[in-house]
Amino acid sequence: MSAKFVINGQNRLVGEIPVQGAKNSALPILAATVLVDGCCEIRDCPDLTDVQATVNILRHLGCRVRREEHCCFVDGSGAVDNPIPERLMHEMRSSIIFLGAILGRFGKAEMFAPGGCEIGLRPIDLHLDAMRKFGAEVLEEHGKIVCECPKGLKGTQITLSFPSVGATENIMLAACRAEGTTTLFNAAREPEISDLADFLNAAGARIQGAGCGEITIEGVRRLHGCAHTVIPDRIVAAGYLAAAAMTGGCIRLTDIIPAHIGPVLPILRDAGCEVEIHARDVTLRAPKRLLAVKNIRTMPYPGFPTDMQAPIMAMTAVARGTTVIVETIFESRYKHVPELARMGANIRVEGRTAVVQGVPTLTGARVTAPDLRGGFSLVLAGLAARGITEISDIRHMERGYEDICKTLSALGADIQRVKDSERDEESRGAFA
Ligand code: EPZ
Repeated sequence: MSAKFVINGQNRLVGEIPVQGAKNSALPILAATVLVDGCCEIRDCPDLTDVQATVNILRHLGCRVRREEHCCFVDGSGAVDNPIPERLMHEMRSSIIFLGAILGRFGKAEMFAPGGCEIGLRPIDLHLDAMRKFGAEVLEEHGKIVCECPKGLKGTQITLSFPSVGATENIMLAACRAEGTTTLFNAAREPEISDLADFLNAAGARIQGAGCGEITIEGVRRLHGCAHTVIPDRIVAAGYLAAAAMTGGCIRLTDIIPAHIGPVLPILRDAGCEVEIHARDVTLRAPKRLLAVKNIRTMPYPGFPTDMQAPIMAMTAVARGTTVIVETIFESRYKHVPELARMGANIRVEGRTAVVQGVPTLTGARVTAPDLRGGFSLVLAGLAARGITEISDIRHMERGYEDICKTLSALGADIQRVKDSERDEESRGAFA
């Protein structure tokens, strides 16, 4: 049965919370364990449906997986190159990262095109072109992808036309056990790329330059088991800071790497928040009413992250003045706008530009989460809104945010997760 969030807004968020491990690091690292002949211990794996979907694929490939709280033990010694069925691939976009790992280990990979958030076309041409560069033959038919490289992968030089996060990850994975050296130019520089490289190097890979635009990978014959701790989730961290900012709150986030949220901090400060940074924690104090911020343009790291576009839009929707947001990464990532508008936000979208005219207050409404980050922006709006907000389709958010209710309740929010039918009768009154 599907569930929804019910939020009674306008509680000020106050307190201290730790930040979960990063979904977008954990997923490629788990996929990378396919390359390893041995047992890997992946710590700080968040408890999310996307992590479970990844574990399901690993098990389908013959890896032995055991989960103990936030630790994931994966033994890839007995992995096999089973084709990955459509049902498993469709769960999420990052299932495509298995391509580089399986091809790297077996010289052959067969799977369906991936699913994921509906935020634009999301082609995989850069991934497939890169696999061809390693010498693989790639066949795409009826939604199926078959890659074969009977003579084994050969190290190569690849220049990405755009610094795609997923393509960079796939190239690193395929190159790890390829023969010879691979150099990747115009690589993505996101912290999750460096985290993947740190894991692979701990397993015996030879990767240099991750986090910079140029990455060199010297192929090795074998990778061995290792332990690795996933980095904290910078998008979740920045999201909770935005939540505190919108409710005039004051929160301290612990267990984070402040540099990773560097691109978001100037925006929070421009909005009038005081932000204090320490080695592993950040404290934010919000003013009574936020100010509009300078123009925001989503860019590859270290630019402003596209994954924060929706949450920051919710924040600017209640700021004093006008904020202009330009989404440059995904072609269709404004599906939260009509939902925010139902709550009284004044936002006009023209192509890739959104003009947000801040209003003094939002009002609770029934809304639907369109995707992961768009859904979280509705949670933020609900926390700041007057009255009750009901958000349905919360499965999107449960792909990326661990224990949203518990975390926000610990900060003083009035939020509940309820089964659809349980709440329907009760809430009818609230919206009558
Ligand atoms: C990763 O997606 C993240 N997902 C996304 O997070 C994030 O929004 C994105 O990077 C950008 O930071 C994971 O890490 C699992 P890209 P990815 O390849 O790898 C185009 C979230 O909310 N492109 O860098 O799919 C593509 O269409 C998610 O947690 C091609 O044209 O992103 C897009 O416009 C959503 N051809 C742009 O590049 C390709 O072959 C960026 O995509 C690949 C990408």
